[in-house]
Amino acid sequence: MLTGFWYRALPADRVHRNQLHKATLLEIPLVIGRDRANQPFAVRDACPHRGMPLNGGRFDGENLECPYHGWQFDVHDGQCQLIPSLTHDQTLKVDRIYAGSYPCEEQDDFIWVFIPDSPPLGAGFTKPAEAPDPAPQIAKFSDKYKLAYLQADMPVSIDHGIIGLMDPAHGPFVHQAWWWRTQHSIHEKQKNFEPIPNGFRMSAHTPSSNSAPYKLLRLYADADSINTTIDFILPNIRTETIRAGKYWFSSLTTVTPISRNQCRIDVVAAWNLFRWVPFVPNLLKFVFGKFVEQDRHTMEIQAEGLKHNPHLMLIDDADRPAKWYFQLKAAYLESKRTGEPLRHPMAGPVTLKWRS
Ligand code: FES
Ligand SMILES: [Fe+2]
Repeated sequence: MLTGFWYRALPADRVHRNQLHKATLLEIPLVIGRDRANQPFAVRDACPHRGMPLNGGRFDGENLECPYHGWQFDVHDGQCQLIPSLTHDQTLKVDRIYAGSYPCEEQDDFIWVFIPDSPPLGAGFTKPAEAPDPAPQIAKFSDKYKLAYLQADMPVSIDHGIIGLMDPAHGPFVHQAWWWRTQHSIHEKQKNFEPIPNGFRMSAHTPSSNSAPYKLLRLYADADSINTTIDFILPNIRTETIRAGKYWFSSLTTVTPISRNQCRIDVVAAWNLFRWVPFVPNLLKFVFGKFVEQDRHTMEIQAEGLKHNPHLMLIDDADRPAKWYFQLKAAYLESKRTGEPLRHPMAGPVTLKWRS
């Protein structure tokens, strides 16, 4: 579980003003909410006094009160505002105590939380860290577009969640449907990959004729004008952009580590096709929902096998992206350790071949 990155915590439409929500990221318990001005916040869900969860406390739109002894904390910087048990002649510096808060932003229908390298511990005198960059955004190519999301919990580690997402060889076996494809549609494919900062890219190409957005785009543009780019970027981001003239479809999928053996997939898509047709978001949700459910179901069963800690193997070329993922992760940790720039595992463009 890599620190120093933004992670999706909760869908924005589930977080209401003056309400508190629980969330866990990288095994860190959080309480998430919105202040009076609707700004989201994320505070560690454990009081720095005696560890009481703060999510059951009173919240006035600005300060959060611990239900045990009534200490109050500012929800944005976590700074303690009041310790009710102190008498006037006691000079404890209340403002030096912090509950531990995290940078928090709303972006494309999600509340994102930045998890710094050394997160604030329980008993804290630590001010919130600052995020070096804003939270990731979906690429958009026009002012008007639609946005939709879906989520699925996976009972596997972040690593299995991610390599399951980038692995091309499971398609014909896991994602079968009469309106999609069958095992018989398996054929040889060849794709070019190139290194990008903190990740790799499947270079722009005409998308596989059996991808759903591609089938929709075909109704608008001729097949040759359609191209797609798929990126993977550390720690957990997969983006896909499909363009056909002025029409586009773009998605940003994340696999978020909840705990060592649990992760969650959040797919957020944006598009400018069929904006005026009311059922398209539902249709897309149905199609994507079906895929994500197939992946979720597969990983749930895989988790049974993984319990016994089997030896695993990755093969060329179908598992090469998975190898790059592990190498990138190792290179990232190494660069943090040494302070040197990240040494990218790919020397240059590579062509991979597989059947799927
Ligand atoms: S445990 Fe929170 S105020 Fe005491
Ligand atoms: Fe899949």
